[in-house]
Amino acid sequence: MDAIQLKQKAAEKAITYVKSGMTVGLGTGSTAYWAIQFLGEKVKQGLDIQCIATSQQSDDLARSLGIPMTRFADISTIDITIDGADETTCTRQLIKGGGAALLREKIVAAATDFYIIIVDEQKVVDKLGKFKIPIEVVPFGYESTIRKIQQLGAKASVRLTKEGNVLVTDNHNYIVDADFGLIDDVDILHKNINEIVGVVENGLFINMASIVVVAHADGTIEVLH
Ligand code: 5RP
Repeated sequence: MDAIQLKQKAAEKAITYVKSGMTVGLGTGSTAYWAIQFLGEKVKQGLDIQCIATSQQSDDLARSLGIPMTRFADISTIDITIDGADETTCTRQLIKGGGAALLREKIVAAATDFYIIIVDEQKVVDKLGKFKIPIEVVPFGYESTIRKIQQLGAKASVRLTKEGNVLVTDNHNYIVDADFGLIDDVDILHKNINEIVGVVENGLFINMASIVVVAHADGTIEVLH
């Protein structure tokens, strides 16, 4: 199976958890894209859901497919969220934010009862950290914030667009990509990063995922509980 088919397989499995009447969080990225596409088809067939997106890009996509959207002001909880990840361990600890949407993704995840992550098998690792940790920082003084992140032991730099400009998130912040190497204690690192003034949130998603749906190259699906 090619990469796109694997993303589709994982997304297909994830949307089987979605039932009429639910409020659903929509993730961001090339895997979550397929979940949104399939939900769009189900909505056309009569699935009655309302959704909240983790990025402007996913919000635009969902609206273009006719998926009803809601706002935090109008809901108290999100029943299910389906999102991708950059890395996951077998115990469902994650790195997210490769698509620069980690802040909204974490806010949506924190408000979600059942948080589903969809990945292909290449994203499953023994230890997090090969993928650099995305960290959302406020623009003011970001050079100083980066130095503080470096003082924690990382090689870190601000993320640029393909055109070479500083990437600006949906929240008008910047992303710093921090390479700490393989991480021994994710809880401590998570806490240390978020204690730096100027950091808004980081891409370590610890004890958040309810299940991880893994699509394997041989076509099988594994669900990590
Ligand atoms: C965006 C994310 C994505 O979920 C993550 O980067 C995975 O993306 P893809 O499914 O395209 O590999 O965290 O901020």
